[in-house]
Parts: sequence; structure tokens; C-alpha cells
Amino acid sequence: MRIVVLVSGTGSNLQAVIDAVASGGLDVEIAAVGADRPGTGGVARAAAAGIETFEVPFRDYADRGDWNHALTLACRFYQPDFVVSSGFMRIVGEEFIDAFEGTYINTHPALLPAFPGAHGVRDALAYGVKVAGCTVHIADAGVDTGPILAQRAVEVLDGDTEESLHERIKVAERALLIETLAGLAAAAR
Ligand code: GAR
Repeated sequence: MRIVVLVSGTGSNLQAVIDAVASGGLDVEIAAVGADRPGTGGVARAAAAGIETFEVPFRDYADRGDWNHALTLACRFYQPDFVVSSGFMRIVGEEFIDAFEGTYINTHPALLPAFPGAHGVRDALAYGVKVAGCTVHIADAGVDTGPILAQRAVEVLDGDTEESLHERIKVAERALLIETLAGLAAAAR
């Protein structure tokens, strides 16, 4: 099973996938890692692991449609079975969703459909939830919407900050993403 992973930030979840593949715990091929801006930690991690990388910087394009077209072509080049949004903080358009329909996977640090968007952990904390968590789902054209593949709950502790809770969620999220990818790879065999 070939995957392309898309990142916008530090890529710690990507690193967990890279490590799982390297240790033989996850039987997938990371064909490439792409980013929506230059200089991400995620692309640096991929390059350090000898994985092909590409950047399609959002601000280099005249409009969202042009950027979306370029991103679609860049991902399609690697002929992935799945594209994984791992901390990719941009909404993709119809052309991308059509090209990868049912095979675009997103991971989100909240128990969807609650708290979608760029600040899922902050919003959940502000609401006062006692149980937070993470979701891996097939992404559609909405903001963190689409059929849910797996979820894991994470308890909110007294005194949690956005950072401390997000770090604990990420521990669960990495395991959940790897398990979900392993399940998809097994089903593809
Ligand atoms: C992850 O927690 C991911 O779920 C979140 O960004 C973080 C990326 O961390 N994505 C979203 O909030 C998408 N709505 P990382 O760069 O360290 O892997």
C-alpha cells in the first residue's frame, strides 16, 4: 500500500508512521511527504528518512483553485493508494476530493463530529469536556468531516493546558493512525 502524507507543521505524527514502517511494524510504503508551505518540520523529518518530498506553497498560487490543482497533480504523481492528512491544516477543494475520493484520510485531535477545525483541543478544553480524544476518518470536502474509521478517548486532567492535553492526545493519535493504516494495508492484501 503506497501512501502520500501531507503536513503543515512539525510532523511528529508523521515521524511515528516513519518509525513504524522502519521497524517493520507497519507494512506500507511512504511514497512521498508533501507540505503546503516551505520549511516544515514534517518535510525535514521525511528528507532525513530518505523519503521523497514536495512543497506546494499555498501563497505561491493566485487562487485556491490553482493551488488545489497543483496539489492534486503533485499527489497523483506518486499514484498513492491513500493520501494521509497528518496535521495538514488546509481545506482541499473538489478537484482533490474527486481525485482521491474515499482514499483521503485525516487525523484530528478531537472526538468528531465535536470540535472540528484548526483548534480542536483548545475548543474542547474551553467547552469543559472531561473526555477528549482523536479521530481518524475519510475526509470529504468539509472541515474535518467524512466517515469515521477509528476514535480513541483521552481523559482531560485537572490543570490540563491546551499543550499538555494535545501532547497526550497525540500519543493516542499516533497509535490510532498506525493501527488504522495497518488495517487498511491488511484489507488491501
Ligand atoms: C495533530 O494533532 C493533528 O491531528 C492536528 O494537527 C496535529 C499535528 O501534529 N490536525 C488538525 O488539527 C486538523 N484539523 P504534528 O505536526 O506534530 O504531527
